[in-house]
Amino acid sequence: MQEQLNRILEEAKAQMAKAKTQAETDEIRVKLLGKKGELTQILRGMGKLSPEERKETGQMANKVRSQIEGMLNDKFEAVKQAAKEAQFKIEKVDVTEPGVARNLGVKHPLTRTMEEISQVFMNMGFSIVEGPEVETVYNNFDALNAGPNHPARDMTDTFYITEDVLLRTQTSPVQVRTLLKQDPPIKVISPGRCFRCDTPDATHSPMFHQVEGLVVDEGITMADLKGTLDSFAKQLFGPDTKTKFRPHHFPFTEPSAEVDVSCFKCGGKGCRVCKGSGWIEILGCGMVHPNVLKVGGLDTEKYTGFAFGMGVERVAMLKYGVDDIRLFYENDMRFIEQFK
Ligand code: DAH
Repeated sequence: MQEQLNRILEEAKAQMAKAKTQAETDEIRVKLLGKKGELTQILRGMGKLSPEERKETGQMANKVRSQIEGMLNDKFEAVKQAAKEAQFKIEKVDVTEPGVARNLGVKHPLTRTMEEISQVFMNMGFSIVEGPEVETVYNNFDALNAGPNHPARDMTDTFYITEDVLLRTQTSPVQVRTLLKQDPPIKVISPGRCFRCDTPDATHSPMFHQVEGLVVDEGITMADLKGTLDSFAKQLFGPDTKTKFRPHHFPFTEPSAEVDVSCFKCGGKGCRVCKGSGWIEILGCGMVHPNVLKVGGLDTEKYTGFAFGMGVERVAMLKYGVDDIRLFYENDMRFIEQFK
């Protein structure tokens, strides 16, 4: 029996030397020490021995058992450690490896232009207000003093949703909303989308953007209008920019004007951008018509104001030398990424 024990011990050593994984180590444990294991069988058979033999063999068996257990535990730890190291090798992170460059987006040139325009006015104390793109015919035309036969009301110019509701053709209805909601002093701009039934070409798009402006208070004059817009032009196009106010007509202002800026490309000498004239038209403006002020319930003897509106695409095209408005809407990254 003692020989058997020695053999088991030797075999255990040999087997364990070969074991490479935790599973293999476990297998050896079951085979030797499990309920049906060889060592267990021997211990079971000890009943048949004489008391002296039993004592001696029992001691030996226990020693072998604890030796095997000790070896198994050591082996188990060793293969566990080896497995861990192998895993670390696979998962190793090289912190010195150069990072993958993330492709950062760029602001759309129209967003940028709108933000630049807004920033200039915010610096002059204007607040930003917004109005809906789906408007009432009343706010878009009637309240803005556009008579019932005004040509812009035509179905061929305006997207009607119902008889009384449309897609706003201009940001000017935000003037009406502001006058109805707010008491003077009013000093706001309103950037946003507008819609007109235009066939797309190099300078027309059925969807485009405007920035509207409205100032109403006691004692506002044409001098305030000219000073504000001249300062705006210099801040947006450069300090040497000159402005020219040409008489014009809009239903919601009286008097009305269009503003030209001296060409920022050629400085006024005449070039492709200004079509040889030295001047570029950038916005419409005027003193708010008393009929519009009355919509807001204002005393037109006490309050006066000025308003202006400009096309964002037009400003962006001029500033960045873009010669086709449709490029803004195609979202071709090769185009947009040029405005970093
Ligand atoms: N709403 C006009 C348009 O779409 C632009 C405009 C002109 C707005 C004069 C104004 C203004 O506020 O005073 O053509």
